[in-house]
Amino acid sequence: MSYLIKGARIVDGEPADILIRDGKVAEVGAGLSAAGAAVVDADGLVALPGLLDLHTHLREPGREDAETVETGSRAAALGGYTAVCAMANTDPTADTAGVVEQVHRLGQQAGLVEVQPIGAVSIGLKGEQLAELGAMATSAAKVRIFSDDGHCVSDPRLMRRALEYVKAFDGVIAQHAEEPRLTIGAQMHEGRESARLGLTGWPAVAEEAIIARDALLAGHVGSRLHICHVSTAGSVEILRWAKARLRASGVTGRITSEVTPHHLLLTDAQVGCGSDAHPGSYDPVFKVNPPLRTGEDTAALRDALADGVIDVVATDHAPHTVEDKECEWGYARPGMLGLQTALSIVVETMLERIGWDGVADRMSRVPARIAGLSDHGRDPAPGAPANLALVDPAARWTVDSTALASRSQNTPYAGMELPAAVVATFLAGEATVLDGKAVR
Ligand code: DOR
Ligand code: ZN
Repeated sequence: MSYLIKGARIVDGEPADILIRDGKVAEVGAGLSAAGAAVVDADGLVALPGLLDLHTHLREPGREDAETVETGSRAAALGGYTAVCAMANTDPTADTAGVVEQVHRLGQQAGLVEVQPIGAVSIGLKGEQLAELGAMATSAAKVRIFSDDGHCVSDPRLMRRALEYVKAFDGVIAQHAEEPRLTIGAQMHEGRESARLGLTGWPAVAEEAIIARDALLAGHVGSRLHICHVSTAGSVEILRWAKARLRASGVTGRITSEVTPHHLLLTDAQVGCGSDAHPGSYDPVFKVNPPLRTGEDTAALRDALADGVIDVVATDHAPHTVEDKECEWGYARPGMLGLQTALSIVVETMLERIGWDGVADRMSRVPARIAGLSDHGRDPAPGAPANLALVDPAARWTVDSTALASRSQNTPYAGMELPAAVVATFLAGEATVLDGKAVR
């Protein structure tokens, strides 16, 4: 199918028409016409390179009651994404070529976004023995990012070996930075709120100590390290130092990091006071790992995302069933939905400072570079693969947890009015979303 997108503003640029044909952008310019192409009126809309999420939990195989590759892919497409990296903490764990190939194949069958599996660092995420990183890298899934996310690779010797191993094929180790000995029984951020609510605290230092250690290790080995869901002001300071140190020796891009939308917007105060849709306290919809931090932390994270110390936004989309989430705080699983709200939260918290060009960098171009997915993160230009999102910057919408495409409903934003809506998404030249609705 061919599409003629009429009058979209290209990122921060001027309005233009975009002709999509044979999976690619054929032409960009004023007053284009094309016989037989479906015309998409994009007056007032912003065209972005399709978003890419470095951190998505799709739950398949094993927890198809919470999410499947297909339902998660649909949520992603509705959120403006054309690619997601699927975390390895499935059941069975994505620690072999067989499992990553299965996830990859399910992604292709769903056909709504490119699903790039992340491989586990250690067998069964146990942090003991290295998984078959090489076999996953050379499999049909071509894994480049490895992570035990949900768990920290806490043994420094194993972390060193993993960093050394992936160097051969320019792989990346994505670390969930949490010193486990410091977070035993932890329920929320350790601070005034945890003391007031009587919940065991998750101290900032448990994250910061691992980031400092791994920055040193990655520097020593000369490998690529990515830090998942950075959540504290102290972590930002350590990353600033680590990046400056590498830059001084002429190296860039070897240490990268991400922040989630929820750590940009929400704080630990939510645990005690809830929100309009989730009034009262101890609502596990606000339970997440790493936990929501303080207002000083969110401010530091926004500054870091603006000035480049934090490279990208990644969702940590973590669907959980009602049984796993709507229970006592202590029993609830950590995690929040993110794919369908991420762009709106970034617009809410960051657009004034970074503009649409900055949004495109942090949600598409730079994540694509980190993941090595060269068909993504490319602005609409003749010859580029047609992976695009059209966004209405003037729209406002209210989040309805029952109307999201995910199989789960654990969004902390229910009832909130958010800015900016995804109107259309194109994957390899085919519409996955039109008029704000999934095509399939
Ligand atoms: O909140 C979280 N949920 N943090 C993680 O690290 C794992 C994730 C999950 O898998 O549910
Ligand atoms: Zn994690």
